Amino acid sequence: MTDRKLTMIVGIFFAVAALAAIVAVYAWRGGGAGGIASIGGPFALVDQDGRGRTDADFRGRYTMIYFGYTFCPDVCPTALSDMIVALDELGPLAARVQPIFITIDPARDTVEKLKTYVPNFHPRLIGLSGSEAQITAVAKAYRVYYAKSEGPKAGADYLMDHSSVIYLMDPGGRYLTQRLRDLIS
Ligand code: NI
Repeated sequence: MTDRKLTMIVGIFFAVAALAAIVAVYAWRGGGAGGIASIGGPFALVDQDGRGRTDADFRGRYTMIYFGYTFCPDVCPTALSDMIVALDELGPLAARVQPIFITIDPARDTVEKLKTYVPNFHPRLIGLSGSEAQITAVAKAYRVYYAKSEGPKAGADYLMDHSSVIYLMDPGGRYLTQRLRDLIS
């Protein structure tokens, strides 16, 4: 084998290894199948009537899930209104979709607080709260960012920073956008 051939083979080997490393990094960052981050997962929370609710309760129905907090002055009410408009536009099919609001501010969003808040948007809207640990877990499963705002408002009137996404989950509890992408690819 000539030196030139050896150099070429070593070069190809390193090129392939580099490509494999890049693919591995992208697959890892994407969280697996199809490079799409997996969203959703099991949860155990409490609804506005004080009843324990888990993700399993909603199997067989589509769910539309929004994470926010009742003290939110603008973003949350707007998103929840959008959700209800979308639901209304489905007509009779809306019966197959369960709208859900999950608080990221369980310290203030008690069961009683949710009980007065969710009916303002829709009679079927379910509000879910829980312990700090339960909310941390469900927010992590849905990749929701939230934190107490460092803004000018302090004390009991604090604001929360949070991501604002309406998740549509299929009857099996899978993030629907992800499923559509899997079907297409
Ligand atoms: Ni908000």
